[in-house]
Amino acid sequence: MIERYKNAKWEDIQPNLQKAFETMVAGGKGIYLYGSVGTGKTHIAYAMKKHYDWPSEETPSGYRMGRNLQIHNMIDLMHEIRSDFDRTIKENPDDRITEYTGVLILDDFGAEKATDFVAETIYRLINHRYERMLPTMFTSNCTLQELAEKLGERTTSRIVEMCDVYNLAGGDRRLQK
Ligand SMILES: Nc1ncnc2c1ncn2[C@@H]1O[C@H](COP(=O)(O)OP(=O)(O)OP(=O)(O)O)[C@@H](O)[C@H]1O
Ligand SMILES: [Mg+2]
Repeated sequence: MIERYKNAKWEDIQPNLQKAFETMVAGGKGIYLYGSVGTGKTHIAYAMKKHYDWPSEETPSGYRMGRNLQIHNMIDLMHEIRSDFDRTIKENPDDRITEYTGVLILDDFGAEKATDFVAETIYRLINHRYERMLPTMFTSNCTLQELAEKLGERTTSRIVEMCDVYNLAGGDRRLQK
């Protein structure tokens, strides 16, 4: 767990977003959560992770499979994929992500610099999850309109079909600390 968000908890999440999360992990729509800087999006993502993750364990009735949720910061993820690609570590350096079928939160979506490589990698990632109907949540500073301008209509259209859209209102919590 990341130090900054180690105290983030399920109760910090507003009820409509708790419900949206339960819907998503039960096989329903994903979540596109957007809002301005410091409104608490990443905090919510880590609170969801803490609520959802559980380890594999022996139980009196047998064995319970663990489950987990991955959070990736988009800027970091694009750097990692790009540097794997440059070092030709793999034929397809984003396989690591496209092979993942669990619950995925992409944090800071739309904040990455949209080079051709980035736009194409994001499209591959989104289309992969779109086709398989995999549970995906996005957090972003961008409205869907701004996202379409940055990443194109094809990626944005898929996200619109995959997700229910939520706006996180409020001021910058960092300035209130
Ligand atoms: N519900 C909450 N209760 C307590 N602290 C919170 C809550 N939500 C957010 N915070 C704190 O406010 C600060 C800013 O939140 P966070 O980093 O999640 O914002 P953000 O929306 O992800 O911002 P950005 O768009 O810049 O990424 C963090 O220190 C976070 O832990
Ligand atoms: Mg954030």
